[in-house]
Amino acid sequence: MTKVITYGTYDLLHYGHIKLLERAKALGDYLIVGVTASDFDRKRGKINVKQSLMERIEAVRATGIADEIIVEEYEGQKIDDIRRLNIDIFTVGSDWESKFDYLNEYCKVIYLPRTAGVSSSEIRAEQRTIRLGMVGNHNILLKFKKECSYINGIQVAALCTTKENLIAKAKSEGIYVTDNYEKMLSLVDAVYIISEPSNHYQHIKEALLQKKHVLCEAPVAINDHDFDEVFRIADENRLVLMEGIKTAYSTAYYRLLLLAQSGEIGNIAAIDATCTSLSDSSSSVRSQNGETWNSICSWGPTAMLPIFQLLGTDYMNCTITSALSTKIENYDVFTKIDFLYPHAVATLKIGTGIKSEGELVVSGSKGYIYVPAPWWKTDYFELRYENQEDNRRHFYQLEGEGIRYEIINFVKSIETKKNSIYLSRKISKGITNIIEKFYNRVGIQEIQITPF
Ligand code: CTP
Repeated sequence: MTKVITYGTYDLLHYGHIKLLERAKALGDYLIVGVTASDFDRKRGKINVKQSLMERIEAVRATGIADEIIVEEYEGQKIDDIRRLNIDIFTVGSDWESKFDYLNEYCKVIYLPRTAGVSSSEIRAEQRTIRLGMVGNHNILLKFKKECSYINGIQVAALCTTKENLIAKAKSEGIYVTDNYEKMLSLVDAVYIISEPSNHYQHIKEALLQKKHVLCEAPVAINDHDFDEVFRIADENRLVLMEGIKTAYSTAYYRLLLLAQSGEIGNIAAIDATCTSLSDSSSSVRSQNGETWNSICSWGPTAMLPIFQLLGTDYMNCTITSALSTKIENYDVFTKIDFLYPHAVATLKIGTGIKSEGELVVSGSKGYIYVPAPWWKTDYFELRYENQEDNRRHFYQLEGEGIRYEIINFVKSIETKKNSIYLSRKISKGITNIIEKFYNRVGIQEIQITPF
């Protein structure tokens, strides 16, 4: 029996794929198809794949051509598979000509002519492009714009800002710039909001009422009432309203959550999350720009994320301690929040006027998870146990500081009309709840930190 193997992503399966599979099958008696795992695709730079691994496997299975389907997960796996599965022929399309000659040592290598005029990339590009507008004065908009350029299906079309360097840069790149938000909305299908947190509600509401999808940097709202209203409008109009916390969408963080939830460190007893920054965030810089991204809004949502995702939002008690600026209203230079749960405790420390070690520790009855600073944009974490030999390190590629995954999820939500699985509304609401407590000074202890 001649065994043939071939590999591919098979995203949005097209007739080029089917012809390749048919010809591969005709080379022997038994065809094994290796479908690449999403992580592996990302590692080799293919980040735009639209379908999940399961969807792609299902599509290949449905052709009825493959006798067996396997998943390709790591570099060098092809050699392993060829030996393990006693493969006689390895085949791929001619776009890979000469790339796999090294496999000749293990089996016969055949490059089949690629079908002209069709590819997954082209199909992805042909799907309707979402025209995105951005609003705000934050420098991150430049990064956000750059990340959009790596993703099929979305294109930055307009920017609403008053900040000089952003205006100059956007104009040089041919993006329409205005300080009129309504005007900008009329030109786009969706909007990314990173205006001052107190303006989010108004900006979201206007966008939704003009039937635009919204990705809003956290916090979506600074009080429960506004939160409920904007989500109600989004639901009624079947529009996507997504909260932007880039950590929530990054691979390493999501894997960490799954491992913790599946009991790898036993019962979770404590979570400590610290997020601080000083650069470009001193109160003087912010006040000059008219921006009030205080600590609770800049870092609160990110720091609350692991706490609420692992312990829930039904804490028994929470104590907020803040060092408030004497110069700028509602500006906390530093905030510490202690949450009390029936079987666990959690503490977050956030600051835009202090600096600390930005690490995350999740402590459990069997071991703990350690994420080194800056944990919110990590590609790496460790599971640590009493017996050090049991320790395990996990590494997952992080592209574009996580922003890229956030945008990919936004595009996917718009296309599928389904909310992202990475950040539930309950968690977002829990975050807004705490922020409201801060603004209403509910149960807040105030301290003074003497500025340096
Ligand atoms: N293939 C082919 N003819 C095409 C497209 C793909 O023969 N028009 C072959 C590839 O050479 C490969 C297999 O189908 O052996 C799986 O290819 P894959 O990379 O998944 O598909 P592409 O359409 O090339 O995807 P992309 O555009 O993302 O590179």
